[in-house]
Amino acid sequence: MKLKQASDRVALRNGTMIPSLGFGTYQLPDDPSTVDTICAAVKAGYRLIDGAAFYHNEKYVGEGICRALDENELTRDDLFITSKVWKTDRGYDKTMRAFDQTMADLKLDVLDLYLIHWPAVPRLTDEWEAINVDTWKALIALYKSGRIRAIGVSNFKPAQLKALMDTEVIPMVDQIQFHPGLDQDETLKFCMGHDIVIEGWRPLGKGQIIGNPTIVERANRYGVQPAQLILRWALQHRVIPLPKASNPKHLVDNTKIFDFEISPEDMHLIDSMPKEADYTHDPEYQTE
Ligand SMILES: NC(=O)c1ccc[n+]([C@@H]2O[C@H](COP(=O)([O-])OP(=O)(O)OC[C@H]3O[C@@H](n4cnc5c(N)ncnc54)[C@H](OP(=O)(O)O)[C@@H]3O)[C@@H](O)[C@H]2O)c1
Repeated sequence: MKLKQASDRVALRNGTMIPSLGFGTYQLPDDPSTVDTICAAVKAGYRLIDGAAFYHNEKYVGEGICRALDENELTRDDLFITSKVWKTDRGYDKTMRAFDQTMADLKLDVLDLYLIHWPAVPRLTDEWEAINVDTWKALIALYKSGRIRAIGVSNFKPAQLKALMDTEVIPMVDQIQFHPGLDQDETLKFCMGHDIVIEGWRPLGKGQIIGNPTIVERANRYGVQPAQLILRWALQHRVIPLPKASNPKHLVDNTKIFDFEISPEDMHLIDSMPKEADYTHDPEYQTE
Protein backbone atom coordinates (compact mmCIF):
# COMPACT_ATOMS: atom_id res chain seq x y z
CA MET A 1 0.00 0.00 0.00
CA LYS A 2 1.24 3.49 -0.83
CA LEU A 3 1.43 5.54 2.36
CA LYS A 4 -0.26 8.92 1.95
CA GLN A 5 -0.33 10.40 5.47
CA ALA A 6 0.95 9.89 9.01
CA SER A 7 -2.22 8.05 10.03
CA ASP A 8 -1.85 5.38 7.31
CA ARG A 9 -0.90 2.13 9.02
CA VAL A 10 1.20 -0.93 8.35
CA ALA A 11 0.58 -4.37 9.84
CA LEU A 12 2.60 -5.93 12.63
CA ARG A 13 2.96 -9.71 12.63
CA ASN A 14 -0.10 -10.21 14.86
CA GLY A 15 -2.29 -8.03 12.63
CA THR A 16 -2.14 -4.93 14.86
CA MET A 17 -1.91 -1.89 12.61
CA ILE A 18 0.76 0.69 13.43
CA PRO A 19 0.86 4.26 12.01
CA SER A 20 3.66 5.00 9.56
CA LEU A 21 5.04 8.07 11.35
CA GLY A 22 5.37 8.63 15.09
CA PHE A 23 5.87 11.55 17.43
CA GLY A 24 8.77 11.35 19.92
CA THR A 25 8.30 12.58 23.48
CA TYR A 26 11.84 12.32 24.90
CA GLN A 27 12.83 15.55 26.67
CA LEU A 28 9.35 17.03 26.53
CA PRO A 29 9.19 18.60 29.98
CA ASP A 30 7.31 17.17 32.94
CA ASP A 31 4.91 20.12 32.93
CA PRO A 32 1.65 21.26 31.27
CA SER A 33 3.44 22.47 28.11
CA THR A 34 3.70 18.77 27.19
CA VAL A 35 -0.11 18.53 27.16
CA ASP A 36 -0.16 21.33 24.56
CA THR A 37 2.61 19.69 22.51
CA ILE A 38 0.76 16.35 22.38
CA CYS A 39 -2.45 18.13 21.34
CA ALA A 40 -0.56 20.01 18.61
CA ALA A 41 0.98 16.73 17.40
CA VAL A 42 -2.39 14.99 17.13
CA LYS A 43 -3.90 18.04 15.44
CA ALA A 44 -1.03 17.97 12.93
CA GLY A 45 -1.89 14.37 12.05
CA TYR A 46 0.40 12.20 14.20
CA ARG A 47 -1.39 9.12 15.49
CA LEU A 48 1.56 7.27 17.05
CA ILE A 49 2.92 8.74 20.30
CA ASP A 50 6.25 7.28 21.40
CA GLY A 51 6.78 7.52 25.14
CA ALA A 52 8.68 5.80 27.93
CA ALA A 53 8.75 5.72 31.72
CA PHE A 54 12.33 7.01 31.50
CA TYR A 55 11.14 10.25 29.88
CA HIS A 56 9.53 11.20 33.23
CA ASN A 57 6.63 12.95 31.54
CA GLU A 58 4.01 10.21 31.14
CA LYS A 59 1.41 11.97 33.32
CA TYR A 60 1.41 14.99 31.02
CA VAL A 61 1.63 12.80 27.89
CA GLY A 62 -1.45 10.95 29.18
CA GLU A 63 -3.26 14.23 29.85
CA GLY A 64 -2.33 15.37 26.34
CA ILE A 65 -3.74 12.17 24.84
CA CYS A 66 -7.01 12.63 26.73
CA ARG A 67 -7.38 16.27 25.65
CA ALA A 68 -6.33 15.55 22.05
CA LEU A 69 -9.01 12.85 21.73
CA ASP A 70 -11.66 15.35 22.87
CA GLU A 71 -10.45 18.27 20.78
CA ASN A 72 -10.14 16.24 17.59
CA GLU A 73 -13.24 14.09 18.09
CA LEU A 74 -11.16 10.95 17.90
CA THR A 75 -11.68 7.62 19.64
CA ARG A 76 -9.00 5.84 21.65
CA ASP A 77 -8.44 3.41 18.75
CA ASP A 78 -7.42 6.28 16.48
CA LEU A 79 -4.24 6.72 18.51
CA PHE A 80 -1.38 4.29 18.95
CA ILE A 81 0.41 4.74 22.27
CA THR A 82 3.81 3.26 23.06
CA SER A 83 5.76 3.01 26.30
CA LYS A 84 8.91 1.21 27.40
CA VAL A 85 10.22 -0.54 30.48
CA TRP A 86 13.46 1.06 31.70
CA LYS A 87 16.77 -0.71 32.43
CA THR A 88 16.35 -0.59 36.22
CA ASP A 89 12.95 -2.35 35.97
CA ARG A 90 14.11 -5.39 34.01
CA GLY A 91 13.03 -8.81 35.34
CA TYR A 92 9.54 -10.31 35.50
CA ASP A 93 8.12 -8.79 38.70
CA LYS A 94 9.70 -5.37 38.34
CA THR A 95 8.46 -5.13 34.75
CA MET A 96 4.92 -5.93 35.89
CA ARG A 97 5.11 -3.14 38.50
CA ALA A 98 6.64 -0.69 36.01
CA PHE A 99 3.86 -1.41 33.54
CA ASP A 100 1.18 -0.72 36.16
CA GLN A 101 2.85 2.59 37.02
CA THR A 102 3.02 3.62 33.36
CA MET A 103 -0.66 2.78 32.84
CA ALA A 104 -1.61 4.73 35.97
CA ASP A 105 0.44 7.71 34.77
CA LEU A 106 -0.96 7.59 31.24
CA LYS A 107 -4.48 6.86 32.60
CA LEU A 108 -5.02 4.17 29.97
CA ASP A 109 -6.60 0.70 30.18
CA VAL A 110 -4.84 -0.71 27.13
CA LEU A 111 -1.47 0.15 25.65
CA ASP A 112 -0.80 -0.32 21.93
CA LEU A 113 2.88 -1.17 22.16
CA TYR A 114 5.21 -1.92 25.08
CA LEU A 115 8.95 -2.28 24.53
CA ILE A 116 12.01 -3.37 26.52
CA HIS A 117 13.87 -0.03 26.35
CA TRP A 118 17.44 -1.43 26.31
CA PRO A 119 18.71 -5.01 26.41
CA ALA A 120 20.91 -6.37 29.18
CA VAL A 121 24.25 -7.10 27.45
CA PRO A 122 27.24 -9.42 28.10
CA ARG A 123 29.57 -6.45 28.66
CA LEU A 124 27.70 -5.65 31.88
CA THR A 125 26.39 -9.00 33.12
CA ASP A 126 26.84 -12.73 32.49
CA GLU A 127 23.11 -13.06 33.22
CA TRP A 128 22.14 -10.88 30.27
CA GLU A 129 20.23 -13.55 28.43
CA ALA A 130 18.16 -14.70 31.43
CA ILE A 131 17.38 -11.08 32.36
CA ASN A 132 16.15 -10.27 28.85
CA VAL A 133 14.08 -13.46 28.64
CA ASP A 134 12.48 -12.85 32.08
CA THR A 135 11.59 -9.30 31.13
CA TRP A 136 10.27 -10.53 27.79
CA LYS A 137 8.11 -13.15 29.54
CA ALA A 138 6.44 -10.36 31.52
CA LEU A 139 5.62 -8.58 28.26
CA ILE A 140 4.20 -11.82 26.84
CA ALA A 141 1.99 -12.27 29.93
CA LEU A 142 0.70 -8.70 29.64
CA TYR A 143 0.09 -9.17 25.93
CA LYS A 144 -1.82 -12.41 26.50
CA SER A 145 -3.91 -10.74 29.22
CA GLY A 146 -5.08 -8.17 26.62
CA ARG A 147 -3.55 -5.14 28.34
CA ILE A 148 -1.12 -4.56 25.43
CA ARG A 149 -1.93 -4.89 21.73
CA ALA A 150 1.65 -5.53 20.57
CA ILE A 151 5.05 -6.08 22.19
CA GLY A 152 8.61 -5.52 21.13
CA VAL A 153 12.07 -4.38 22.02
CA SER A 154 14.32 -1.39 21.55
CA ASN A 155 18.05 -1.19 20.91
CA PHE A 156 18.29 -4.95 20.41
CA LYS A 157 20.91 -6.08 17.92
CA PRO A 158 20.71 -9.54 16.30
CA ALA A 159 22.71 -11.14 19.15
CA GLN A 160 20.09 -10.10 21.71
CA LEU A 161 17.14 -10.71 19.37
CA LYS A 162 18.28 -14.28 18.74
CA ALA A 163 17.99 -15.01 22.47
CA LEU A 164 14.23 -14.23 22.28
CA MET A 165 13.50 -16.23 19.15
CA ASP A 166 12.58 -19.43 21.03
CA THR A 167 10.00 -17.79 23.30
CA GLU A 168 6.24 -18.15 22.90
CA VAL A 169 5.84 -14.78 21.13
CA ILE A 170 8.68 -13.20 19.20
CA PRO A 171 9.13 -9.40 19.14
CA MET A 172 6.89 -7.57 16.69
CA VAL A 173 8.91 -4.33 16.73
CA ASP A 174 12.53 -3.30 17.27
CA GLN A 175 13.01 0.43 17.88
CA ILE A 176 16.57 1.38 16.99
CA GLN A 177 18.57 4.52 16.43
CA PHE A 178 18.24 5.22 12.72
CA HIS A 179 19.44 8.20 10.72
CA PRO A 180 21.90 8.95 7.92
CA GLY A 181 25.47 8.28 8.97
CA LEU A 182 24.63 5.30 11.18
CA ASP A 183 24.99 1.81 9.77
CA GLN A 184 22.27 -0.49 11.14
CA ASP A 185 22.37 -2.85 8.17
CA GLU A 186 22.81 -6.04 10.18
CA THR A 187 19.83 -5.29 12.46
CA LEU A 188 17.71 -4.16 9.51
CA LYS A 189 18.37 -7.41 7.65
CA PHE A 190 17.69 -9.56 10.71
CA CYS A 191 14.41 -7.77 11.48
CA MET A 192 13.14 -7.83 7.91
CA GLY A 193 14.00 -11.54 7.73
CA HIS A 194 11.92 -12.22 10.86
CA ASP A 195 8.97 -9.92 10.12
CA ILE A 196 9.94 -7.49 12.89
CA VAL A 197 8.90 -3.91 12.08
CA ILE A 198 11.57 -1.30 12.71
CA GLU A 199 10.96 2.07 14.30
CA GLY A 200 13.70 4.68 13.98
CA TRP A 201 14.57 6.76 17.01
CA ARG A 202 16.50 10.03 16.82
CA PRO A 203 15.71 10.10 13.08
CA LEU A 204 17.06 13.66 12.76
CA GLY A 205 20.24 12.89 14.68
CA LYS A 206 18.84 15.18 17.40
CA GLY A 207 18.71 17.94 14.81
CA GLN A 208 22.43 17.69 14.09
CA ILE A 209 22.24 16.18 10.56
CA ILE A 210 19.76 18.74 9.30
CA GLY A 211 22.56 21.12 8.24
CA ASN A 212 24.66 18.45 6.53
CA PRO A 213 25.64 19.86 3.08
CA THR A 214 24.69 16.66 1.20
CA ILE A 215 21.28 16.62 2.86
CA VAL A 216 20.71 20.35 2.28
CA GLU A 217 21.74 20.13 -1.37
CA ARG A 218 19.51 17.11 -2.12
CA ALA A 219 16.60 18.58 -0.16
CA ASN A 220 16.79 21.71 -2.35
CA ARG A 221 16.62 19.56 -5.49
CA TYR A 222 13.41 17.95 -4.25
CA GLY A 223 12.02 21.29 -3.07
CA VAL A 224 11.65 19.98 0.49
CA GLN A 225 13.23 20.79 3.84
CA PRO A 226 16.30 18.83 5.03
CA ALA A 227 14.32 17.26 7.91
CA GLN A 228 11.62 16.13 5.47
CA LEU A 229 14.22 14.50 3.20
CA ILE A 230 15.75 12.61 6.15
CA LEU A 231 12.37 11.37 7.41
CA ARG A 232 11.35 10.32 3.91
CA TRP A 233 14.63 8.39 3.59
CA ALA A 234 13.70 6.40 6.72
CA LEU A 235 10.20 5.74 5.40
CA GLN A 236 11.61 4.43 2.11
CA HIS A 237 13.74 2.02 4.16
CA ARG A 238 10.41 0.77 5.62
CA VAL A 239 11.40 2.26 8.97
CA ILE A 240 8.79 4.15 11.02
CA PRO A 241 10.50 7.43 11.97
CA LEU A 242 9.79 8.96 15.39
CA PRO A 243 10.86 12.61 15.18
CA LYS A 244 10.46 14.82 18.22
CA ALA A 245 9.71 18.52 17.83
CA SER A 246 8.58 21.07 20.37
CA ASN A 247 8.64 23.91 17.86
CA PRO A 248 5.09 23.97 16.37
CA LYS A 249 6.38 24.64 12.87
CA HIS A 250 8.84 21.70 12.97
CA LEU A 251 6.10 19.47 14.28
CA VAL A 252 3.82 20.24 11.32
CA ASP A 253 6.61 20.29 8.69
CA ASN A 254 7.76 16.82 9.73
CA THR A 255 4.41 15.28 8.73
CA LYS A 256 4.81 16.43 5.11
CA ILE A 257 6.84 13.52 3.85
CA PHE A 258 4.25 11.56 1.90
CA ASP A 259 4.06 13.47 -1.37
CA PHE A 260 7.54 13.02 -2.83
CA GLU A 261 9.80 10.07 -3.58
CA ILE A 262 13.60 9.88 -3.21
CA SER A 263 15.25 8.25 -6.25
CA PRO A 264 17.25 5.01 -5.78
CA GLU A 265 20.47 6.95 -6.58
CA ASP A 266 19.77 9.54 -3.88
CA MET A 267 18.76 6.81 -1.39
CA HIS A 268 22.16 5.25 -2.03
CA LEU A 269 23.92 8.60 -1.65
CA ILE A 270 22.27 9.20 1.74
CA ASP A 271 22.95 5.57 2.77
CA SER A 272 26.66 6.12 2.23
CA MET A 273 26.97 9.34 4.23
CA PRO A 274 29.78 9.06 6.79
CA LYS A 275 29.16 9.18 10.53
CA GLU A 276 29.45 12.86 11.46
CA ALA A 277 29.34 13.26 15.19
CA ASP A 278 29.33 11.17 18.31
CA TYR A 279 25.65 11.10 19.09
CA THR A 280 25.19 7.40 18.40
CA HIS A 281 24.79 4.77 21.10
CA ASP A 282 25.88 1.19 20.49
CA PRO A 283 23.71 -0.97 22.80
CA GLU A 284 26.57 -3.42 23.25
CA TYR A 285 28.71 -0.65 24.78
CA GLN A 286 26.25 0.59 27.39
CA THR A 287 27.99 1.74 30.53
CA GLU A 288 25.14 1.08 32.97
N1 LIG B 1 14.37 3.81 22.22
C1 LIG B 1 15.32 4.62 22.59
O1 LIG B 1 16.32 4.24 23.24
C2 LIG B 1 15.22 6.08 22.24
C3 LIG B 1 16.31 6.94 22.48
C4 LIG B 1 16.19 8.26 22.12
C5 LIG B 1 15.02 8.73 21.52
N2 LIG B 1 13.95 7.88 21.32
C6 LIG B 1 12.68 8.34 20.71
O2 LIG B 1 12.97 9.00 19.48
C7 LIG B 1 12.42 10.31 19.52
C8 LIG B 1 13.22 11.30 18.66
O3 LIG B 1 14.58 11.34 19.07
P1 LIG B 1 15.24 12.68 19.64
O4 LIG B 1 14.20 13.48 20.34
O5 LIG B 1 16.42 12.28 20.44
O6 LIG B 1 15.83 13.42 18.36
P2 LIG B 1 15.32 13.82 16.87
O7 LIG B 1 13.87 13.61 16.70
O8 LIG B 1 16.27 13.20 15.93
O9 LIG B 1 15.64 15.38 16.88
C9 LIG B 1 14.92 16.29 17.66
C10 LIG B 1 15.57 17.65 17.46
O10 LIG B 1 15.42 18.05 16.09
C11 LIG B 1 14.79 19.32 16.06
N3 LIG B 1 13.87 19.33 14.91
C12 LIG B 1 12.76 18.57 14.74
N4 LIG B 1 12.19 18.82 13.56
C13 LIG B 1 12.93 19.79 12.95
C14 LIG B 1 12.82 20.48 11.72
N5 LIG B 1 11.83 20.22 10.87
N6 LIG B 1 13.76 21.39 11.42
C15 LIG B 1 14.76 21.66 12.28
N7 LIG B 1 14.93 21.04 13.48
C16 LIG B 1 14.01 20.11 13.82
C17 LIG B 1 14.01 19.45 17.36
O11 LIG B 1 13.89 20.80 17.69
P3 LIG B 1 12.58 21.40 18.43
O12 LIG B 1 12.26 20.50 19.59
O13 LIG B 1 13.01 22.77 18.80
O14 LIG B 1 11.44 21.40 17.44
C18 LIG B 1 14.94 18.71 18.32
O15 LIG B 1 15.99 19.55 18.76
C19 LIG B 1 12.44 10.65 21.02
O16 LIG B 1 11.65 11.78 21.34
C20 LIG B 1 11.96 9.35 21.60
O17 LIG B 1 10.56 9.22 21.50
C21 LIG B 1 14.04 6.56 21.67
